[in-house]
Amino acid sequence: MCGIVGYIGNKQAAPILLDGLVRLEYRGYDSAGLAVRDDEGRTRIVKAKGRLKNLDEKTDGGRSMPGRVGIGHTRWATHGQPSEANAHPHSSEASISDKPCIVGVHNGIIENFQELRDKMIRKGYSFYSETDTEVLIKTVDYYYHKYNIGPIDALAKTMVRVRGSYALAVMFDDHPGEIWVARKDSPIVIGLGEGENFVASDVSAILNHTREVCYIDNLEMARLTPEGFSVYNIDGDEVEKEVSTVDWDASAAEKNGYEHFMMKEIHEQPKAVTDTIHSVVKDGKIDLSGIGLSTEEIQKFSQIYIVACGSAWHVGMAAQYVFEDLVRIPVRVELSSEFRYRCLPMSPDGLVIIISQSGETADSLAALREAKTRGMKTLAIVNVVGSSIAREADYVFLTLAGPEIAVATTKAYSCQLIASYLLAMEFGRVRSTLDDENYAAMLAEMETLPGKIERILSEKERLQWFSAKYAHAKDVFFVGRGLDYAICLEGSLKMKEISYIHSEAYAAGELKHGTISLIEDGMLVIGVLTQDGLYEKTVSNMVECKARGAYLMGLTCYGHYVIEDTADFTVYIPKTDPHFMASLAVIPLQLMGYYISVARGLDVDKPRNLAKSVTVE
Ligand code: M6R
Repeated sequence: MCGIVGYIGNKQAAPILLDGLVRLEYRGYDSAGLAVRDDEGRTRIVKAKGRLKNLDEKTDGGRSMPGRVGIGHTRWATHGQPSEANAHPHSSEASISDKPCIVGVHNGIIENFQELRDKMIRKGYSFYSETDTEVLIKTVDYYYHKYNIGPIDALAKTMVRVRGSYALAVMFDDHPGEIWVARKDSPIVIGLGEGENFVASDVSAILNHTREVCYIDNLEMARLTPEGFSVYNIDGDEVEKEVSTVDWDASAAEKNGYEHFMMKEIHEQPKAVTDTIHSVVKDGKIDLSGIGLSTEEIQKFSQIYIVACGSAWHVGMAAQYVFEDLVRIPVRVELSSEFRYRCLPMSPDGLVIIISQSGETADSLAALREAKTRGMKTLAIVNVVGSSIAREADYVFLTLAGPEIAVATTKAYSCQLIASYLLAMEFGRVRSTLDDENYAAMLAEMETLPGKIERILSEKERLQWFSAKYAHAKDVFFVGRGLDYAICLEGSLKMKEISYIHSEAYAAGELKHGTISLIEDGMLVIGVLTQDGLYEKTVSNMVECKARGAYLMGLTCYGHYVIEDTADFTVYIPKTDPHFMASLAVIPLQLMGYYISVARGLDVDKPRNLAKSVTVE
């Protein structure tokens, strides 16, 4: 989704802004732009459609834009097609007056933009783009000039008037040594340097300059100068803010010799999993005190609702089986985008678990707020410290995947699984549905997962060969039962999102109720068989596909060699506790998605139409 970077200090702003935008590329975008104010107070805007290299070429790497204060933006089209006119920054220049102008960039969506646009047209403004952002900037301009008030009041009046979400960075010609920001439901963070300050929608954009940050909360505004910053609430009162230090270092967001971030992140899984386990496992026990959950609370929950999107929802699907089995508690898994608009009757002593890598997914954030409004206790499993979901949930389990750049999630998914297992095991222990012996055995087994993931990764060449063979498949089916079905959901998404091959995940027993009619000669059907009790059943369903011409790949554990009587190609993974199988089975499926995408010559890390963090509905 869109990205914002701003700089104010003693260095030339444009190259810094471009560098920051490059670091936000992974979020997905279709155009980009910079606005830089020079030392004479003139503001210049340069925009380009397409990749950042176009903007880089137009500005000679930023060198042709003098000035030490500026804002930059990567746009992911919402209102209006990708074009130079629609790209940000936008300015109030075409306004009724020749008064000094206002230039700004914006992430989010202004829901009442049409109504505001009509109003601004009535007031004499004209518009050069189709964007809601231009409407937003002109609304700020309107209040600023109408009441002859300063930036705080102009922004506050605008914030009261607009509906929707925004992270906004603006420069007022009248206030040359300042950048102003405002926020509602879309993240923005201030980075603090020596004689220079930064603003960004995502901390990774500024990590190579500073790790000292201040998060702006909803309905707050901030003023940045080279020397410092102040934050104000919507009434214009100054508010005290905490400065935090980000643990991630800049190199964590580099490729480190890998061709793609996705492959690097796949290989980071053993460490990410180890770190996440050790964040709560101390002396052979799971300690959830850092998360804020007491044993009394754990005992009281009567129902669990897991709410998430995409791969995080797939983690929820896997976690459902684990919770049901270890805690004997009813679990519902909901898509955030559905949950927020449903009147799901909820048990008042239930727990809502929101899973999100970014902590900024608009639907998951809205679901969290909906749950809180309904008086539910909320627990977030989240990867980004300081993200909105992390800050608003009652309890937070922070996964330690580190920055995840590739759009297709891998290491964050793996860490979310670990967090779910640990929660389920501790809930089971506290509620006496998991005895001490099994608890200890499971914890010991969990410690072996990183090594087992390493082993699977060491055998990746075979998958590379097989992926090249199927790189031009038209359709792929993933089938499995129980937890294996949850694994299939993630395997199928990994395949389609980066290789653009149509794929479906099916509960194996459900195929014969319609979908089996799609099976054609040579179609690849991948059977996931990691659950002993369901193995024979899934094999039967795979045989049904083979009888209709399918080419079968089996994904199962070492020892299940009899699968070779059925499958045409088999991938073996080490055995582990059945509840943890998703952590191992997903690795070959991530690798297949990756290798097929590479074989097809696609942009692995930045697949078309997708964004890393989906901050719009
Ligand atoms: O940041 P979140 O975990 O909330 O994101 C949820 C989904 O957008 C995300 O998992 C998406 O499905 C990934 N592209 C999957 O690889």
